[in-house]
Amino acid sequence: MSGDWTEIYRPHGLAEVVGNPKAVEDLKAWADAWVSGRPVKRAAVLIGTPGTGKTSAALALAADYGWDVIEMNASDQRNADAIRSIAMRGALGQTFTPDGDYHSTKEGKLKLIILDEADNISGREDRGGVPAIVEVVRTTKQPIILIVNDWYALSKKSSVLKSQTEQIKFSRIKTVTVRGVLRKIARDQGVAVSDRALELLAENSGGDLRSAVRDLQAVATGRKEVTDLDTAVVSAREVEKTMYQAMDAVFKARDPREARARMAEVEETPETKLLWIEENLPIAYRDHLDLYRGMREVAKASSYLGRVYRRQHYGFWSYAGDLLSFGVCAAKRREVHGYIRYQFPSYLMKMSRSKSVRMLQAQVCSKIGEMVHMSSAEVRQEVLPYFRLLFKTNKTFQLSMAAELELEDEEAAFILEEKIDSSAVKNLMNALKKGLDANVKRAVRPNDRGKPPEALEGPSATASKPQPAPSQRTLF
Ligand SMILES: Nc1ncnc2c1ncn2[C@@H]1O[C@H](COP(=O)(O)OP(=O)(O)OP(=O)(O)O)[C@@H](O)[C@H]1O
Ligand SMILES: [Mg+2]
Repeated sequence: MSGDWTEIYRPHGLAEVVGNPKAVEDLKAWADAWVSGRPVKRAAVLIGTPGTGKTSAALALAADYGWDVIEMNASDQRNADAIRSIAMRGALGQTFTPDGDYHSTKEGKLKLIILDEADNISGREDRGGVPAIVEVVRTTKQPIILIVNDWYALSKKSSVLKSQTEQIKFSRIKTVTVRGVLRKIARDQGVAVSDRALELLAENSGGDLRSAVRDLQAVATGRKEVTDLDTAVVSAREVEKTMYQAMDAVFKARDPREARARMAEVEETPETKLLWIEENLPIAYRDHLDLYRGMREVAKASSYLGRVYRRQHYGFWSYAGDLLSFGVCAAKRREVHGYIRYQFPSYLMKMSRSKSVRMLQAQVCSKIGEMVHMSSAEVRQEVLPYFRLLFKTNKTFQLSMAAELELEDEEAAFILEEKIDSSAVKNLMNALKKGLDANVKRAVRPNDRGKPPEALEGPSATASKPQPAPSQRTLF
């Protein structure tokens, strides 16, 4: 099955939401109160760390109760008016379509308004923001769910919010439960994953079901069996975790010395640390001047790193490290609190993606090179573009070459420039499996006795009848 497994296996109803039974019960009770009138606490707040099913539960609830859903990002100020106007419409008679257009219906279903990332609504000092949300929560005629990772950060901005909302906590999902979910998904995908591998993936997720499912997809995609875990994925997750902690230390610590100490504990090169800080600084420092000062430290660190290489003077490494930790931490005037959704450096992500593309390219070019007696580099420059064009447009060529080169799924995907689970790749691989390969191989490769190749089956077969080439085969 193709696509993002976390989406494919998103629960369709509350019964499928795993873990946190109390939270699910509370949510139902709150929704029931809406069905039978307007509850005192008109909004529910779902509180919990990432990947524990908050968004899923909210969507599942709407599905179970037959409510329409309007999902909005609460931190986007521009939404405030839209939220207000939707919330203030009565349930009967008039409603909005899910994308906010006004229309009339007879029964007037309830609309569940889901405000995600509500802990990122800007504070009191801004017009709108939190006070606007509080006002809506108090008076809404439609059920509202606020979703937050950090309830403290939000409730601090408004004590009223605390008394006006039903708070529902989502805890980390237990390892055994995570393992159970992973096992089911693996079975459904037809991949045999060993118990040990499931256990490792589950443990490693730290109760974050989303990342567990993602890790499973990463190790299991395109395989029939996962016995030994591709530990790179798991250890990458671990590195990520320690990096997140270091980010917290740098951006949130009051004492820059603590930031420096935490950062020094991370076993990564200063270059990698710099990429992490650079990516996440704008997320953590909301104050423009703080951001400017922080970035100045990053820039200085970067120039020291440059000198390390130009002058081969590794002493500068520690300067760079200090600027990145001590410097960035000390650059802020405004304190930073609460949960921050750090990001993996986009540069590193792109690099690792292009690395696997480069590896596939090298693999494919060397296979073609062997066949036509050319170096991989020559193939890459002179053959691959034409090969690819033919491969994409000529079915016979595609089949014969796939068989001849014994292409794996991912190599075929690379040549076709399609995803590995695309229908183009699947069809090709299926056709190969069906034994066509034998036929096609014979057709392309003139047999040793010099007989002409057998005719291909199928209508397009004659179109590209290969020429017999006694010593060296040519492609085109
Ligand atoms: N309790 C759960 N039951 C079933 N699936 C879950 C659960 N929690 C997470 N998942 C899986 O993980 C994915 C992400 O979960 P979800 O979006 O609900 O997390 P979240 O708590 O909203 O996280 P975030 O705080 O990052 O928004 C879902 O699509 C689903 O596949
Ligand atoms: Mg969510």
